Amino acid sequence: MKKENTENITTLLKENRLFHPPIAFKKAAHISGFSTLQKLKKTGQKNPELFWAQQAKNLKWIKPFKKTLVWNPPFAQWFLGGKINVSENCLDRHLTTFRKNKAAILWEGEPGDTRTLTYAELHREVCRFANVLKSLGISKGDRVSIYLPMIPELPIAMLACARIGATHSVIFGGFSSEALKERNVDAQAKLLITADGGYRKGQIVPLKINADSAVTGSPSIEKVVVVRRTGESVPMVSGRDFWWHDLMKSASPHCPPEPLDSEHPLFILYTSGSTGKPKGVLHTTAGYLTQAAWTTKHIFDLKEEDTYWCTADIGWVTGHTYIVYGPLANGVTTVMYEGAPLYPQPDRFWELVEKYKVNIFYTAPTAIRTFVKFGDEWPNKHDLSSLRLLGTVGEPINPQAWLWYHKVIGGSRCPIVDTWWQTETGAIMISPLPGATPLKPGSGTLSLPGIQAEVVDKTGKPVASGQGGYLVIQKPWPAMLRTIYGDSERFKKQYWSQIPGIYFTGDGARKDKDGYFWIMGRIDDVIKVSGHRLGTAEIESALVSHPKVAEAAVVGRPDEITGEGIVAFVTLQGGVQPEPALSEILREHVSKTIGSVARPAEIRFTDTLPKTRSGKIMRRLLRELATSHQVKGDVTTLEDFSVLTKLQTSYEEEEG
Ligand code: WT7
Repeated sequence: MKKENTENITTLLKENRLFHPPIAFKKAAHISGFSTLQKLKKTGQKNPELFWAQQAKNLKWIKPFKKTLVWNPPFAQWFLGGKINVSENCLDRHLTTFRKNKAAILWEGEPGDTRTLTYAELHREVCRFANVLKSLGISKGDRVSIYLPMIPELPIAMLACARIGATHSVIFGGFSSEALKERNVDAQAKLLITADGGYRKGQIVPLKINADSAVTGSPSIEKVVVVRRTGESVPMVSGRDFWWHDLMKSASPHCPPEPLDSEHPLFILYTSGSTGKPKGVLHTTAGYLTQAAWTTKHIFDLKEEDTYWCTADIGWVTGHTYIVYGPLANGVTTVMYEGAPLYPQPDRFWELVEKYKVNIFYTAPTAIRTFVKFGDEWPNKHDLSSLRLLGTVGEPINPQAWLWYHKVIGGSRCPIVDTWWQTETGAIMISPLPGATPLKPGSGTLSLPGIQAEVVDKTGKPVASGQGGYLVIQKPWPAMLRTIYGDSERFKKQYWSQIPGIYFTGDGARKDKDGYFWIMGRIDDVIKVSGHRLGTAEIESALVSHPKVAEAAVVGRPDEITGEGIVAFVTLQGGVQPEPALSEILREHVSKTIGSVARPAEIRFTDTLPKTRSGKIMRRLLRELATSHQVKGDVTTLEDFSVLTKLQTSYEEEEG
């Protein structure tokens, strides 16, 4: 376990305040009271398949499923024999009810422009774009890359893919053209959907320019659809590039949903792992939707009249499940915001909460810590009394930030759901149920009914309470990833070989005496910067792709705001001088290669890297150095001690 995490967890465990669900909240909640939850958990534990089959039956099926689960470890198939369509469940199902003219999406652009799409309007746009996809030669099973800003065309494109059975791969708009290319190629995508640009912090992100250079190296991409967002003039390649609005003009708004097998691939989403190559996490149809819909309804305690806002970007899994599929499957009104949280001022989020009278607000700890830093005066300018429930996701939240969120944003009346899950799990796995679970700041509390999470040692045996161990999931769950796209060997090795037959999350955790989970962070070579998941190996390979770099080792160090910060130890090619300007050049190089999320906070030049006798870089030492500027841990396997002395001295010199 990382040392800093161990310390963090010790302080967390000292936090023993308990927050019970407020009486009024509890009374009105879908799952009301701890004993109700305990009963559900018992049923879910005894027979998870039965529990999930009951939830699946709440979806609209074209043909009912016959078999709940076929489990050939590590390959799961849920709800076999059924036919279903995700877009029908998110749209058509509501059109025969009073939800027809209810707002599905309340959208706000960064410059302040707005759009509202009712369920009927969203349905129409999705059907039209589904017909556009067909007219461009896209059919069931084809992969479509989507590289868009946070504009309504993004969920429209996703739902249109789902409607015809094409598999979407959304690439976060902050990723570079290089990253986009790699993902296009890996998925063998036929079509790319992008925009002229998007707004971020008052600037225009040149998406089309990035897309063009990516497409040059993506031979599978035949056509490109371009949404006009900023109105900038962008180059269009005749015969390859088409404007969204031109194609939509003549598209029919009628498009029946394709009946799809439960296990039909719904989407691929790339995420970072411990090697340099991103993993294409594959999610399928019915199981994913079942868990997405159930968790959204019960964890966010959705009511018909709620306005719900998840601030994530749809480029990450949180946006897939908790902006698009979960909320729309439940027929709720969801807020979607294009831009940066601090633009034009640090109160943009609170302005939007007040304006749209948001009731449920779901964001990331890193955002909360940033708001703490800017001070109470920004939220205090706004009427936040519409809020009744708050949520967090993406990384552990420190009790101090939790308490601030609870008091300053939630007016001490809103429960906070701290939701643990992963791109791979598809939906929330560990979380409070807000009308039932007593909260402890910093803990995701308990696993959900039907989910078998545990903290175990290397042999798979549960550890004693208070002991650190590996967080694992012991039984298959409906929204679990089915494989890594095109690489089932990696899927097996990465998740199922640590402890055979059991899903290994990559997280360290502890359970306290009440069985509450306390997440200690990643124990593999993955770091979380502002809740974004980055592989150290990816950043290293970006660094060594620069001609002046010989070798690089990247580690995370704790950061008050971003959770972790990236520190890169770099050795240069012979004859290259480690001048300060080079440090900025390399940071920019990483940002260009992967995306600005991966820009290192610090570059440290060194003659050599600390290695074991067998040549393995000792990241543990580097992590310690980056964190405390000295090394106290065990160094007996280090080959050359002078490397370490030099690095320590360089810190001492800086600190005088
Ligand atoms: C990793 C997964 C799940 C959507 C966003 C991130 C960390 C996630 C929590 C939480 C502590 C958390 C874990 C996990 N994580 N939620 N509530 N408390 N840690 O998805 O990019 O796939 O990252 O995020 O380390 O393994 P992701």
